[in-house]
Order: sequence, then C-alpha cells, then structure tokens
Amino acid sequence: MDGVSHVTTTPAVMILLGPPGAGKGTQARMLEEKYGLVQLSTGDLLRAAVAAGTEAGQAAKAVMEAGGLVSDDIVLAILKDRMADADTQSGVILDGFPRTTGQAEALDALLAETGQKIDAAVSLEVEDEAMVERVSGRYTCAACGEGYHDTFKKPQVAGVCDKCGGTAFKRRADDNAETVRSRLDAYHAQTAPLIGYYDARGVLRHVDAMADIGDVAEALGRIVDSVRH
Ligand code: AP5
Repeated sequence: MDGVSHVTTTPAVMILLGPPGAGKGTQARMLEEKYGLVQLSTGDLLRAAVAAGTEAGQAAKAVMEAGGLVSDDIVLAILKDRMADADTQSGVILDGFPRTTGQAEALDALLAETGQKIDAAVSLEVEDEAMVERVSGRYTCAACGEGYHDTFKKPQVAGVCDKCGGTAFKRRADDNAETVRSRLDAYHAQTAPLIGYYDARGVLRHVDAMADIGDVAEALGRIVDSVRH
C-alpha cells in the first residue's frame, strides 16, 4: 500500500487559475498523487521546449524571461500534442492553461472534438504582495521536480528531497522580483478575465489560496469529489 487513495472515477478536466505563486503547481502535483489525475503545466512544457532547444522553445525563451505570455499558437501546439498522449484519458488538471480568452476558446473546441467538458475551473485567490515572496523563495528538486520553499515548505531533512532522496536543487530563471511583477501584470491583464468566462459557463469555483497548503489541498479535494463522474 502506498497510503494513497487512487480513485477509478475522475473528472475529465479541471483548470487551476491563479497568478504566479498562487500554488497551481503545488496543488496540481498533490491532486495528481491523490486522485491519479495528470498535471498538464504549459509552463513545464514550455521550459522543456526551451531546454531541448526546439523551434518553439527558442521562440518562447525571451518572452518567458521577460515575464510576458508566449503566443497562443505556440502554447496551443504544445498543449494539443500533450493532450493526445494516452495517460491524459484518466483526467487532467490544467496548470497555467488557459491564460487568454483565445486559449480558453481553443480548449473548448479541442474538448468538443473528443466529447469532453470542463468539470471545474478553480480560481486560487491570493494577495499579489505575498506572491513575490512565495515565488522568489521557491526551488525544486533537480531529479524529480518536487517543489520546495525557503520559508513555507522545507525538505524534512535539509538538502535532501523528501520524495526521491535527490540532493541537487534548482531555481527558475524567471523567479526574481522584477520578472514576477511583470508576470503578475500579465495575469491581471490577460488571464483574470477568464474568471468571468468560466463563471458564465457555470463551472467556476473559488478557493482561498492564502490558507496553508494542506487546507488549500483539502478544499480542492472537496471540489474533485463533488464533480467526479
Ligand atoms: P508557469 O510555469 O505557469 O508559471 P506561473 O503561472 O507564473 O506560476 P508559477 O509556477 O510561478 O506559480 P504556481 O501558481 O504554480 O505556484 P507554486 O505552486 O509553484 O509559467 C511560466 C511562464 O511560461 C509564463 O510567465 C509565460 O511566459 C509562459 N507560459 C506558461 N503557460 C502559458 C500559457 N498558457 N500561455 C502563454 N504563456 C505561458 O507555488 C509557489 C511557491 O509558493 C512554492 O514555493 C510553494 O511551496 C509556495 N506555496 C504554494 N502554496 C502555498 C501556500 N498556500 N502557502 C504558502 N506557500 C505556498
């Protein structure tokens, strides 16, 4: 037994909306472990493309380092490729996608092709001022990607990943105070309007994401339980 309750019935599609530092990645990974959903992070997919030096990655690199949004065309191509993988059939948590109305409309069209629908779009509600500290204190295990924070989530043994035992850690190039402020501006200008978009479709949920990580996870778990098929 791994102590984890994997369920056989899952929501098809759950969206986590929120500014940088809201906890989208932290919570998506927890939901993935607990419910067997698959985390799809366009940020992670884009960083992998940058690291691999693909054409899309080369186009995205400077925009990401400046804290702007990568073009819808590039993001949609990457997302569609990933959604075609077999493991997504058990249900997905979209982390950082959609981020523009154009992306939201393209997602609706993509899901309609396969008879899927959005079960819940969760707005993680936070205060901007706290996000700069959250993001600039963040680091991840270089081996397994588990996320940590200098203040809020330290490994149980200093310098050793709780999950895989790795001892090398890394920080993201765009996790500095200046770029975080640009990312917050991009969120409010281009992504926050999606809260109204999903409210109008009757799938919007709100979670107080200034609460402790465990309390946020419990609130999200209740949403998964309430919408799973
Ligand atoms: P992306 O990788 O998606 O970054 P982001 O949206 O800026 O979000 P973050 O990863 O910074 O924050 P998070 O909400 O996941 O927070 P986390 O859980 O790590 O995107 C990066 C870039 O890629 C974008 O700027 C853009 O250029 C491009 N991009 C990506 N998707 C795109 C798209 N669809 N369209 C166009 N461009 C796109 O938490 C942060 C820290 O806080 C952690 O250390 C964590 O431990 C801690 N923490 C989390 N929750 C709590 C809590 N409740 N209390 C205390 N600490 C907490």
